This record gives sequence, C-alpha cells and structure tokens, in this order.
Amino acid sequence: MGKRVVVLGSTGSIGTQTLDVIARHPDLFQLAGLAAGQNSSKLKDQAARFGISQIALFEPNTEGIPSGMEAILDLVRRPDVDLVVIAVAGVIGLLPTLASIDAGKAIALASKEVLVAAGEVVMPLIRQKNISLTPIDSEHSAIFQCLQGYRKDQVSRLILTASGGPFRNRERAELARITPEAALNHPTWQMGGKITIDSATLMNKGLELIEAQWLFEMPVDQIDVVVHPQSVVHSFVEFTDGSVIGQMGWPDMRLPILYALAYPERPVSGLRRWNPIDSPTLTFEPPDELTFPSIHYAREAARIGGTMPCALNAANEEAANAFLRGQIGFLEISDTVQKIIESHSSVPATLETVLNVDKETRAVVRERLRKMSLAA
Ligand SMILES: NC(=O)c1ccc[n+]([C@@H]2O[C@H](COP(=O)([O-])OP(=O)(O)OC[C@H]3O[C@@H](n4cnc5c(N)ncnc54)[C@H](OP(=O)(O)O)[C@@H]3O)[C@@H](O)[C@H]2O)c1
Repeated sequence: MGKRVVVLGSTGSIGTQTLDVIARHPDLFQLAGLAAGQNSSKLKDQAARFGISQIALFEPNTEGIPSGMEAILDLVRRPDVDLVVIAVAGVIGLLPTLASIDAGKAIALASKEVLVAAGEVVMPLIRQKNISLTPIDSEHSAIFQCLQGYRKDQVSRLILTASGGPFRNRERAELARITPEAALNHPTWQMGGKITIDSATLMNKGLELIEAQWLFEMPVDQIDVVVHPQSVVHSFVEFTDGSVIGQMGWPDMRLPILYALAYPERPVSGLRRWNPIDSPTLTFEPPDELTFPSIHYAREAARIGGTMPCALNAANEEAANAFLRGQIGFLEISDTVQKIIESHSSVPATLETVLNVDKETRAVVRERLRKMSLAA
C-alpha cells in the first residue's frame, strides 16, 4: 500500500497539482482526505473523483461538510494518515502543521508563511519528534536535493533563484500604476493569487529567504538571491571548497511536489525532461532591491528575529490581499510592510506571541488601509 496523504488547500494551485501527482502514481500514494477554504463544489468534485468521504472546509457551509479549524485538524490526526500536504494560502497553515507534528505525521510543506511566521516554534518540534519535513517550494526543494549526502559544516552559502516577476526592469514610478490584472500575469509560473502578487513585489523571495533560514539552519546573511528569468535553475548550494551545485528542470511544480511526497524515492515522473540542447540561454543578475525593497525588509526582519518575521508576514498577507481586491496601489504593499517593521517591537516567538502578533498586526494594517481608502 502507498503513502496515505491528506491534502490541505486541495482546491488551489498546489493542491490541484498535488492531486494530479497522486492520480499519476496510484501505486505510491492513496488520497486519505481533502480540505479547502470555501470552495465546496470543487472540493466535492475532487472527493468524488478519488472516491473518498473525508473532507473539511474552513468556512461554514450549508452542504453538511464538516467545517472550521477543528474539522481540518481532525482530518490531519486520523490514524490512517501518513503524510500531510500543507498547501493553504497563508499562515492559516500553522495550526495544521503543529497538529501534524503532534500526531507524528510526515509533512510536505508548500505554505511558506508557516515557517516565516513561526519557524522558531515549528522547527524545534520537528527535530524533537523526528518528523520528516519536505519542502514543496521549488527553490527549497532544489536546495534540499543539492544537500543530499552533505554535512551542514560543508555548506557555505545558499543561492535562491528568482524569476524577477512580471515587472523586472520597471522604474518605481511605473509601479504606482500597476493593476491587479497586470500583476497576476506571471511570466513563468501559474500560481494562486496571493503568491503571484508576492512574486511581483519580490516579497515571495523575501519570504523564501526566511523559510530557507529555518529549513536549512542557515543564517540569512549566508543566503543570497539571484534573478534568473528563465526559471530553469531552481536554486544553488555553494560548498566550503567553492563548488556550486544547482538543480534544474522546466518550471513545473509537479516535479518538486512529487519529490516532496515520494522522498527519499525518485519515481519516474512522466513529466517533460529538461535537455541543455533545448534550453533557453540561462541568465543571472542581481535583484533590484531599490525598486523592490521587499527582500531587504525580509532580511531585516529575519536578522531581528522573534516575532518580527511574523509581523512582516501578517502585514504582507493583508496588504497583498487588499491590492488584489483593488483597495490599495501596488507600491502600498511594500510601504505597509515597511511601516509595520518600523513600528513592531519584536518579542521572543512562542505559539502564543506568534498568534497574538499575527492577529494584532492584521488589525493595525486593516485600520491603516481603511484610513487610506477614506483619504483617497
Ligand atoms: N502555486 C505555486 O506554484 C506555489 C509554489 C510554491 C509555494 N506555494 C505556496 O503554497 C501555498 C498555496 O499556494 P497556491 O498558489 O496553491 O494558493 P491558491 O491557489 O490561492 O490556493 C489556496 C488554497 O488554500 C485554501 N484555503 C484558503 N484559506 C483557507 C483556510 N482558511 N483553511 C483551509 N484552506 C484554505 C483554498 O481553498 P478555497 O479554494 O476554498 O479558497 C485553496 O485550496 C502558499 O503558501 C504559496 O506561497 C505555491
């Protein structure tokens, strides 16, 4: 029998691609449960397609689907579950991550916001309970793969690649006029709305920097970002002798998803194979942190530590979603993050402080955005 998998966020971009991977490998994986936010019809279609009845929605519904955070946690804790895929959009994935650890389940993690906000809380528990945690993010999957067979003291630097988003080479003044539609048009990846906006502001790379810090126990000052518009090299690891190893492949999230689910195996994927002869020319350039200051803010938040990355994440989630709703302009996303970093007094991160700071920061940001829209 294959691994029995619960997918949280099954109706989203990563969720649907995870179901595609599971359907392609019935010998390796069996679906054991599905959860989403509010899309009951898609959730029910997915359950019918895989012939399962264990489903949950976060939002209340009139269709008798168990709802609320407890219903999602119940799915995760079921004794017949081996692995939990956490692919919900945002820090809402934190409690399911903690429940998975507590129940001794392996975790495949897409929701980067979980480690950004609470890496200091989550990672000691992962180690203490010897939980298998595999990253789904393509950059972290690449680094995870490059590190196989090496010791931590042999690694000198991690290099995250970034596509640069749809507004690479634009002037800051031009960014003020960007619409949500333009920002949702990503050049190389098809993703959910919030992460696509994060890619356009480059905050996605800032969040990934903090996620990498926790996953690979590497100080942020030993993690660099390089813009690589073709999205073929998914990241690099530099070793103490100066050798650099990178992982390559066409931009298709099903490959890192399969790796995260099947680890430590490497099943035949059936996905399009990358061949250097067919490849576009690969180019690399430094990120423009003056026009796109998000990476700088994330690095600062990581250096300060404690609850500062949680505040940064909450401010960014609120502002990115407000931009998607057309409530604020593009530049106001990073301005909002900056204001929160300047005003938040970081305290040591515990589950309680993280949940409080997340809630309070969102309230502060919503009030700020409300005043801004009144003034506009
Ligand atoms: N997409 C990518 O290529 C990619 C790559 C790397 C990492 N990631 C990370 O993966 C995560 C998911 O991204 P995505 O692009 O798949 O997002 P998405 O397409 O927006 O999907 C989000 C999923 O989360 C569910 N959801 C939202 N709120 C929820 C809640 N309160 N409780 C339970 N489920 C909830 C949504 O359900 P409804 O449909 O019902 O709203 C949907 O299934 C993000 O953290 C992102 O940063 C994504």
